[in-house]
Order: sequence, then C-alpha cells, then structure tokens
Amino acid sequence: MDMDIYLEEKRKLINEELAKYLPKDDSILSQSMRYSALAPGKRIRAILAIASCSCMGGRIETVLPAACAIEFIHTFSLIHDDLPCMDDDDLRRGLPTNHKKFGQATAVLAADALFALAFEVISSDKNIPARSGNRVILELSRAAGCLGMAKGQSLDMLSEGKKINITDLFEIHGRKTGDLIIASCRTGAVLAGAGEKEISVLSDYAAHLGMAFQIKDDILDVEGTTEEIGKPRGSDIERKKAAFPSILGLEESKKMLSKELGTALVCLRGFDEKAEPLRALLNYISGRKK
Ligand code: IPE
Ligand code: IPE
Ligand code: MG
Ligand code: MG
Ligand code: MG
Repeated sequence: MDMDIYLEEKRKLINEELAKYLPKDDSILSQSMRYSALAPGKRIRAILAIASCSCMGGRIETVLPAACAIEFIHTFSLIHDDLPCMDDDDLRRGLPTNHKKFGQATAVLAADALFALAFEVISSDKNIPARSGNRVILELSRAAGCLGMAKGQSLDMLSEGKKINITDLFEIHGRKTGDLIIASCRTGAVLAGAGEKEISVLSDYAAHLGMAFQIKDDILDVEGTTEEIGKPRGSDIERKKAAFPSILGLEESKKMLSKELGTALVCLRGFDEKAEPLRALLNYISGRKK
C-alpha cells in the first residue's frame, strides 16, 4: 500500500471534520482553539483510531468523531506542554505556540475548552451507541488523567535536571505519550465492536508503537531541524529533560526504537490484511522527519 497517499487522504478527512466541530465565532478563545487545533499536526492518533477500527472490520464514519475528539485532547496537551511553566517553547507545528500568539491566560483556557469539547463530541454523537460511547469516554478520560498522560507529564517535569534510570524513563514516556496512543487504538477497536481479546492485542501493539513514537521524538530533538520538526530543536537538551538520547546515547536509542517497532509488528501477526495500515504506520514512524 502507498502510505503517503493513505496518510494524506486521512489527514484531509480529519482536518475537515475537526473544523466542523470547532466554534466559528470571532471571540479570542475560539480563535485560539482553532489556531492550535487546525495547525498542521500529523494526526497520528486519529489515524491510529481509524486504522484500528478498519482493522477490526469497522467503518471509518463510525470512528471519525472519536478520532477528532482524540486530536482535541492531544492538542490540549500540546498547548499546556509548551507553556512557560512546562517546556517553555515558542514554536509548535511550525507556528508560534498558542501562548506566544494569544497570551498565557487564553492559551490555558483554549486548552481547557478543547479538552471539554472532546467529550462533548463523543457524548453528543447520535451514531455512537450509548454503551460504546461510555466505554470510549472511559478509555480516553483514563488515558488523559492522573494515571495516564497527566501523570507522565508530571513525572517529566519532576525529572528535569535529574539523573533517572531507564525504567523510570519508560514509565514517563509510557504515561505521557503511550497512554493516549493506546487509547486511540482501543477506541477504534471498541467502536468496531471488537472483543476484549482483540482490544488487548491492539493495546500491546499501541504500547510499543507509542514508545517508539516518543523515542523518535527524542531523537528528532537532537537530529532533526527546527524547520522540519516545526518546534525548537534542542529543547530537551536545554531543559535537561529525561529523554532517550541523553540517557542511552543516540545509537542505543535508535536500537531501542527498532526494537519497539519490531515488537509492535509481532503483536499484529494474528491479523489479516486489514491490519496493513497499522503495519505500515510502524515504517512511517521509523522514517519520519517531523
Ligand atoms: C508531539 O506529538 C508530542 C509527543 C507526544 C511526541 P506529535 O508529534 O504527534 O505532534 P503533532 O500532532 O504532529 O503536532
Ligand atoms: C509531550 O512530550 C507529551 C505530551 C504533550 C503529553 P514532549 O514535550 O517531548 O513533546 P514535544 O517535543 O514538545 O512535542
Ligand atoms: Mg514535554
Ligand atoms: Mg515539549
Ligand atoms: Mg519532545
């Protein structure tokens, strides 16, 4: 399959849908929400939800609203992540960060509103049966909350400037990035009506893919260019972040990246050709330059 075409098609569809859900008025808050949510992100989490749904025989229309909700949660996390009290970054998706453009108060509130919008999108969708809607809300709220992304971000902040071991680094990356990626795949599977066993296999795939995704992010902080990654290169080094290259070195980090991608691929061995996009996404992550 041609992954470039697949990704381009899905991104176009997702971007059109995201725009439909966002507020249309001219208030600063709405402008700020649209600014970050419609900026050119890769939409990987939404695509993972779609690919997981189709892998389990579901239709794309079934998962599209939840896929948008996931991107809203992700964008919320990025706005907060860039704030001066967190990573203090000025560039995101090739544009000034939300707080640089709109000020910190509006940035915090736009992120809050995007997080709330995510759950409104799922719970107001008439095509999602209440039972699976509730389940998806459970998956996403858990992944974003105090045992998931928020916990990972907290550990990430606490580890700045400290020497941490590889086990702790896996925990930070697993929570701050892995959990939402796992929930994206689980959401796709739930909405396709998959059984618990299949959901669990997809979770394992996503956990390894998510780890690989954040290892690659850490590597790009060292090896990428600000222009390509659309965020300031060297941010992790400057803030003495817990990151793979600083703990393992670049070469070992690359080996770890390949190992995680290989394990993710093995997780899919029982699946048929409908899992092809999920398999191809692993190659995409290994080669991505942004
Ligand atoms: C950035 O995520 C934050 C991480 C968890 C590494 P992405 O690399 O998916 O960011 P966008 O959505 O494409 O901007
Ligand atoms: C961010 O990790 C993870 C979340 C936003 C939850 P990073 O801090 O490494 O992400 P970037 O590099 O700023 O995109
Ligand atoms: Mg961060
Ligand atoms: Mg950051
Ligand atoms: Mg990073």
